[in-house]
Amino acid sequence: MIIVIIGAQWGDEGKGKIVDLLADSFDIVARYQGGHNAGHSVYVGEKAFVLRLLPSGIIHEDTTCVLSNGMVIDPKAFFEEIDQIREKGISITPERLKVSSRAHLIMPYHRALDHTSEERLGNEKIGTTLRGIGPAYEDKAGRRGIRVADALSPEVLKLRIERNLEEANRIIVLYGQPPLRADEIFSEIAPLVERLRPFVSETSHFLAEAKKQNKKILLEGAQATLLDVDHGTYPYVTSSNPTAGGASVGAGIPPHHISGVLGIVRTYATRVGEGPFPTEMLEREEDMANLIRQRGNEYGSVTKRPRRCGWFDAVATRYAAELNGFDSIALTKLDVLDALDEIKVCVGYQINGERVDTFPAVAQDLIAIEPIYATLEGWKSETVGITKLEDLPAKAREYVEFLSGSIGVEIGLISTGPERDQTIILPDSVMESWFKS
Ligand code: IMP
Repeated sequence: MIIVIIGAQWGDEGKGKIVDLLADSFDIVARYQGGHNAGHSVYVGEKAFVLRLLPSGIIHEDTTCVLSNGMVIDPKAFFEEIDQIREKGISITPERLKVSSRAHLIMPYHRALDHTSEERLGNEKIGTTLRGIGPAYEDKAGRRGIRVADALSPEVLKLRIERNLEEANRIIVLYGQPPLRADEIFSEIAPLVERLRPFVSETSHFLAEAKKQNKKILLEGAQATLLDVDHGTYPYVTSSNPTAGGASVGAGIPPHHISGVLGIVRTYATRVGEGPFPTEMLEREEDMANLIRQRGNEYGSVTKRPRRCGWFDAVATRYAAELNGFDSIALTKLDVLDALDEIKVCVGYQINGERVDTFPAVAQDLIAIEPIYATLEGWKSETVGITKLEDLPAKAREYVEFLSGSIGVEIGLISTGPERDQTIILPDSVMESWFKS
């Protein structure tokens, strides 16, 4: 069985906890796109793990983790993360962590170019994580990227760094920054690549063999649907394809081998960085945004940036369900809404007074959206840690049913807190079958 897990909104929906929960019943967890721009927080008892590059399955020592070909990997960030996780008592060996020889490397000049690119865009900047993700994917598409397999040969690594840096330095200098030196980059990267060598593997072959042996594989998306470079709120997106189709290319898995798609949806929306956000709580609703930010701890796990907060957007989430073909949804952070008198849900869009039924392609249209809201009564009582649907307050159950109805997909799991056991799994749902089989 192969299941893809994807955020339905703009990221930070709480995928980390759900992957961590599922990892117990899966043999392999593979990431298929992005790099250390992601940030998952996973809480296990007293310990908090912040994962950026490694799949959330890494905390389960029986799970094998894969960084697939679709990823961009910063070797320095990779080992920093491994060292941090090892310090917390988790064993990470090449037997349980495999890195694709076809993944691309993020180099120091990619980070520098991420800065210059944002500076060039000025008022229209993307608000990237400045980790070099976009420039690394640009080099990949431009056919000048350095893949893990290329870097394993020191001569090739040296030549490619020299060649690419010549061009990168022209831009870096243009923006008033000192040029980077090829010999320094080589001396920094070459030992890291040597350290990486034992982890390098033909990961798509590894996954194909695992599939033959009926192993259970989870494909973990980072970022989320509305940040997809093709389907998201372009140009305010990341440079890869988190959507379900991207899982096939990014992990090297035939599309028809994928058995199901799980969407992660939060009870409200957030966004970090710039870009249109139709249901954003603006000045008028600043107190509400602050309440949600504080109750939901809505600050970037990696960048610590405060996240922009907004109401649940059923139009955008339906769009995500359609694009990814969600079979089931995990609804996260129900408890964050416990304190609210009323909860708004965006059920439609208007642009210049006209009803719009599809998710607009153009940022200008997205900015012009006037959301049409339904208002539901809050439940005003604590749901933290509830594990059975029937123990939820009636109004909370109504809210969940309303969301499921407006997206058109079952909600098979409800998260009522950050801990593993603060979870409701709905009996007889598609989701339940993934935990069991
Ligand atoms: P990049 O991926 O660093 O190029 O950033 C592009 C956009 O994606 C920016 O708006 C980032 O804030 C956003 N982004 C990247 N990774 C994440 C994530 O893991 N969660 C939420 N937003 C993200």
